[in-house]
Amino acid sequence: MSEKIKIKSPSGKLGVLLPGLGAVATTFIAGVEAVKKGLSKPFGSLTQMGTIRLGKRTDKRVEKIKDFIELSELNDIVFGGWDIFTDNVYQAALNAGVLHSELLAKVKPEIERIKPWKAVFSQQYVKKLSGENVKKAGNKHEYAQMLQDDILKFKEDNKLDRMVTVWCASTEIFMKRDPVHDKLESFEKAMKENHPAIAPSMIYAYASLSSGVPFANGAPNLTVDIPALNELAQEKNVPIAGKDFKTGQTLMKTIIAPGLKARLIGLNGWFSTNILGNRDGEVLDDPESFKTKEESKLSVLEHILQPHVYPDLYKNFFHKVRINYYPPRGDNKEGWDNIDIFGWLGYPMQIKIDFLCRDSILAAPIVLDLVLFMDLAQRCGMKGIQEWLSFYFKSPMCAPELYPEHDLFIQLMKLKNTLRYLMGEELITHLGLEYYD
Ligand SMILES: NC(=O)c1ccc[n+]([C@@H]2O[C@H](COP(=O)([O-])OP(=O)(O)OC[C@H]3O[C@@H](n4cnc5c(N)ncnc54)[C@H](O)[C@@H]3O)[C@@H](O)[C@H]2O)c1
Repeated sequence: MSEKIKIKSPSGKLGVLLPGLGAVATTFIAGVEAVKKGLSKPFGSLTQMGTIRLGKRTDKRVEKIKDFIELSELNDIVFGGWDIFTDNVYQAALNAGVLHSELLAKVKPEIERIKPWKAVFSQQYVKKLSGENVKKAGNKHEYAQMLQDDILKFKEDNKLDRMVTVWCASTEIFMKRDPVHDKLESFEKAMKENHPAIAPSMIYAYASLSSGVPFANGAPNLTVDIPALNELAQEKNVPIAGKDFKTGQTLMKTIIAPGLKARLIGLNGWFSTNILGNRDGEVLDDPESFKTKEESKLSVLEHILQPHVYPDLYKNFFHKVRINYYPPRGDNKEGWDNIDIFGWLGYPMQIKIDFLCRDSILAAPIVLDLVLFMDLAQRCGMKGIQEWLSFYFKSPMCAPELYPEHDLFIQLMKLKNTLRYLMGEELITHLGLEYYD
């Protein structure tokens, strides 16, 4: 056994800051309140329902993760957030149409008092949206100051001990890394000069990190995935993580593709298409926002299947992803996959998937886990990119010299081994030869 890392106790209240109070954020908030009232169990949440095996298999030690490592209690969480619309969380949840109105009525008093603060927003970055609840300032640095004021006020008003930010706002237009993103100094100068390479999501991330608050990015936007903000995170001793919650079709891809590779089954093509009718679907109907999402979704198979390592199996596979905005379905997405594979002697086979999923139902427990694990990371003194949380993301952030790990099972092993490491428990390698000595 190694030595246990010093972990600050999660006593006191934990504030959750949510830029974007749309479908995902409101499903998360209302869901936590429903769980607190015993109206449902927190299905899908590793921190609440997951277990961890400790020691040898013969020891028969399996604990619930939340009993193994100290995490904040749901009762200690306080929510706050920004949106370009003025709807409170109850109204926004009704509009999103994810949760039934009967359930929402039962948590109405708790969630209707959460009213969005004015947002930092520009239609230049999200073409399909416009709203009135937005801040006005002279430059992007001033906007960041205003967000920091909101964060400080939220902390004081609610007597919070710690906070975590999870970006749940819309997908912005596709942006490439710009030289102003290279250093914190150039980034801050660019903010003051209103440089177009500084997107609103980056202003939130800057404000959060400058306030000493961890930042996780649920959208595929570039946001904290730039050296300047990593530098700020290091300087302020704050964890960062991203990008893009891993739900729906990509979750399925990262479950199935490792299985095909494990059995050396080849791939000729993978065609994925979706119909989706919520506001996220509408935003993604804009080609520039879709491009951001597409990049995030496409990289997954390349990294899992490693065509350069297995050229005979995966060198030229064709991968296509489509998202079609189709209002009648609302948040209840339907995703179809056609997978053309080949086996022994090159004989072709096909797999068809029809996933009738609920996007925000899959995303909400991810937000909860990220809040609790990012807070844990902060209490352990872990700063910068938290690669052990790749489990939750479509495009996991990692050190510049690494490639991202997309395989869901490797990601889970990495996450649980990190928890074992923090608690001074033996890491699990699955070797197991000792049982046969
Ligand atoms: N639901 C999923 O399964 C899933 C999976 C991966 C990623 N995501 C991402 O999560 C994000 C949220 O998804 P959703 O379904 O809740 O979308 P949504 O459209 O319902 O909610 C987004 C909210 O953000 C607000 N917003 C936009 N720009 C803002 C800004 N600059 N400041 C403050 N608020 C702003 C919008 O007004 C809207 O209310 C999207 O970027 C989406 O791509 C969702």
